[in-house]
Amino acid sequence: MARYVVCSAWPYVNNVPHIGNLVGSLLSGDVYQRFLKLMGEDAVYVSGSDEHGSPIEVEARKLGIEPKELTDAMHDYVSRLIREWGIEFDNYTRTHNPTHIRFVQEFMMSIYNNGLIEPRDEVLPYCENDKMFLADRFIEGTCPYCGYERARGDQCENCGRLLHPTELKNPRCVFCGATPVYKKTRHWFFKLPQVRDRLLTWLEKHPNFPDNVRNYSLNWVREGLKERSVTRDNKWGIPAPFPGAEGKTIYVWFEALLGYISATLELFEKRGEPERFKEYWHRGDTRTVFFIGKDNIPFHSIIFPSMIIASGRDHPLPWQISSTEYLLFQEEKFSKSRGIGVWADEALEILPADYWRFALMRMRPEAKDTSFTWKEFYRIVNNELNDDIGNYVHRVLSFIHKRFNAQIPGPGEEDEDDKRLLAAMREQAEKTIRAFQAIRLKQATEHILELARKGNQYLNAQAPWDLVKSNPPRAEAVMLTAAQVVRSLAVLLAPITPKASEAILDTMNLPPPKPGDYPMAGEPLLEPGHPIKKPQPIFRKLPPEFLEKVEEMVEEARRKARAKRPPFKR
Ligand code: MF3
Ligand code: ZN
Repeated sequence: MARYVVCSAWPYVNNVPHIGNLVGSLLSGDVYQRFLKLMGEDAVYVSGSDEHGSPIEVEARKLGIEPKELTDAMHDYVSRLIREWGIEFDNYTRTHNPTHIRFVQEFMMSIYNNGLIEPRDEVLPYCENDKMFLADRFIEGTCPYCGYERARGDQCENCGRLLHPTELKNPRCVFCGATPVYKKTRHWFFKLPQVRDRLLTWLEKHPNFPDNVRNYSLNWVREGLKERSVTRDNKWGIPAPFPGAEGKTIYVWFEALLGYISATLELFEKRGEPERFKEYWHRGDTRTVFFIGKDNIPFHSIIFPSMIIASGRDHPLPWQISSTEYLLFQEEKFSKSRGIGVWADEALEILPADYWRFALMRMRPEAKDTSFTWKEFYRIVNNELNDDIGNYVHRVLSFIHKRFNAQIPGPGEEDEDDKRLLAAMREQAEKTIRAFQAIRLKQATEHILELARKGNQYLNAQAPWDLVKSNPPRAEAVMLTAAQVVRSLAVLLAPITPKASEAILDTMNLPPPKPGDYPMAGEPLLEPGHPIKKPQPIFRKLPPEFLEKVEEMVEEARRKARAKRPPFKR
């Protein structure tokens, strides 16, 4: 047994997450952590609201409220949505909490005390209209590496490079468009070049990362690392603890990353066993797994491990980083301003969470950017979830309910076909487990679907509705075998569609899957004579006119969802 800390990227709290954010981090992390726990592994799942940073401060200023008022309301709203999506965190916290603030200040002081953070005077772009320094998202210009014209002050969205605001060509203020002037200010710099060699050695030896993460990071580190400032002139944030740094705050990325550690600490503090935190973050063999979108790679594969190395603390370096490619929305980028996409709250006004969870895992962009289309959504919900899985389950359970007096029949007269199906069941379960272990979540859904299809084929070939008359002992054996597959499907689906899975098991008078049940998912554990309840269909189909009407439906869902958002976020 291993110990895992499963980590999802912390969503910026000023936005409601859209389905692309969910598939990249929160939801994928949940599916994986549910899998681990069902395997009997020791895992905690943490994340929270990324509350600080200049965009949030500016937005609150525009709304005429304090940043905290904005983040309080939005944190509550997003936390509730996460629960409604069936995403189960051990701790979903926020960066403006006392444990985090204290942890960050102490951690940054460890780096400082090791001589790896030092103040420097620097000349930074400053907007004279808006009376503020322009860093990060407040400044845009042309990327010096790839020529993309709307690169931000901290990162180019196009090539993913981390940038310094003075590197931008043709810089302009994002608020007023003015060309900035340059002013001197003092900031505290993290001396990344001094940890470069240790970071490189680790990256080279670390076999675990997928190629996209590893190659990208290695190239970057081989080219050399630049010092990066860890402080900002913003008010809203964690006060910088360095001597002489009064009035400065910690740059949001440098503190949010530490949230993975502090959220685990807070979890065990809340449970009244603070010592247990050490079992997770002070042992070299803990497996930390990060679910992030690909624009977050350098922060997790370079900045976060560099900070750990520089602190001299014994926290484990990232064990696995699962970074998805982009999910597009009908071929386009998600866009809040243009209303392109579906947001977490709107989605639930259209269909319950399990449908989305399944569909998004089916579309998970594991190898290449993938477009969400309503057509594909329709196909997945109707053909796969309803026909392949839902129908199979319903056919088997209703037949048993009606023809076998609501009891699992059998053993009857077994034959080779039954054995073949049971062997396939075992094989598909093993394949599913291997796919989950490799964090190929989309592949896992394929193996589960394959089992459902095999079940349907078997049922069609055996025709138990004829056998009940012509050969009752065979009918019994067939329905026992078919029911084994129903149980297997229900258990295998548990990380993806937890509610549906519980509903199927409940119909079979079986308890919800518990830790350690997953390795037995492929075993025929049902006993003849076991009573079942009257089955209800677990899924419903989207109506045939769905694709024609989808635009209207989304509009309607959007109206309903927005009416529930905190008043200033409509
Ligand atoms: N808020 C960032 C984003 O949405 C992610 C932060 S991940 C963290 O891109 F771990 F650093 F918090
Ligand atoms: Zn300006």
